[in-house]
Amino acid sequence: MLVLGIESSCDETAAAVVERRADGSARIVSDIVLSQVDEHAAYGGVVPEIAARAHVEALDGIVATALRDAGLGFADIDAVAATAGPGLIGGVLVGLTTAKAIALAAGKPLVAINHLEGHALTARLTDGLPFPYLLLLVSGGHTQFVAVEGVGRYRRLGSTIDDALGEAFDKAAKLLGLPHPGGPAVEAAARRGNGSRFALPRPLIDRPGADFSFSGLKTALRLAAEAIAPLNDQDVADLAASFQAAVVEVVANRASHAMAIFANEHQRPGVLVVAGGVAANEAIRTALRAEAERHLFRLVAPPLRLCTDNAAMIAWAGAEHMALGLTDGLDFAARPRWPLDETSAPLLGGGIKGAKA
Ligand code: KG4
Ligand code: ZN
Repeated sequence: MLVLGIESSCDETAAAVVERRADGSARIVSDIVLSQVDEHAAYGGVVPEIAARAHVEALDGIVATALRDAGLGFADIDAVAATAGPGLIGGVLVGLTTAKAIALAAGKPLVAINHLEGHALTARLTDGLPFPYLLLLVSGGHTQFVAVEGVGRYRRLGSTIDDALGEAFDKAAKLLGLPHPGGPAVEAAARRGNGSRFALPRPLIDRPGADFSFSGLKTALRLAAEAIAPLNDQDVADLAASFQAAVVEVVANRASHAMAIFANEHQRPGVLVVAGGVAANEAIRTALRAEAERHLFRLVAPPLRLCTDNAAMIAWAGAEHMALGLTDGLDFAARPRWPLDETSAPLLGGGIKGAKA
């Protein structure tokens, strides 16, 4: 089965063709990602309106390239899958509408995919992982532990109650005068710094459960920076290193709790999958590997290219749906918010379980 996937929920315009064989194994036939990073760099973050316009301009060409790379035409594919949320609604509309148009014109089924499900199922695309497994999704928009028990069966075991971790890295970078995207810049600066120079808080550490909080850490970083301003290069490196040291400790502690919860529920250790852009961080990966070993879990980290936003994961999720006979109507509405675990408490409104969580 060949599925064309489309992703446009943030600042990557992407299209891919993925093959799912009858035995459940996978092959990425083509995979095109166009990053808009340069278009947003001057603003220190993603500007939704600029992102939506850039998707409109690029998507047709990206889809054509993905098909050409695969040596296929619309007639050869079995379904079109697109991210239908959650994300920046302008961009989601561009991708979903494009997918609907292709589905209608080519007479192919449409599969509307939750972007988070794309991340959640990536380890099955890359490693053929069987259910169940524990996922830590750490990106610019999301920070959560999910028990992945089957296609459509996702249970959130913990999540951030304020900022996503990638967002915290990006804000830390902005505050320290480092370039966007902030994660790689903070990590690079941290390598030259002393992580114990500033005593920053470790929010929620050792509290029961597997939730995260990063807004207090961000404020503490700002106060520490303001107290010694103006900052020289070494100050910036030391602040970055101290921030990263706090984050690493928090992530390790929360992962330890999540693995304990998961192992207890399943009566045995399992696999911890880490996905999302922040999974690129070496210090975080190293800490997770050590924690996983301590809990007798296997750590699976898909290749970085498939950890960050891409369309192969959307095509693959579409193929998993197709294999179960699950398709969607052309009236499927784009959703700016769409929790992966629809049974858990909605994260709407303000406060510690607020919308950003
Ligand atoms: O998954 P992703 O590419 O896009 C979404 O947010 O969906 O993740 C991007 C985020 C950004 O916030 C970026 O700063 C962060 O991942 N990031 C990192 C690193 N590389 C990217 N954070 C920490 N360390 C890194 N090396
Ligand atoms: Zn993502």
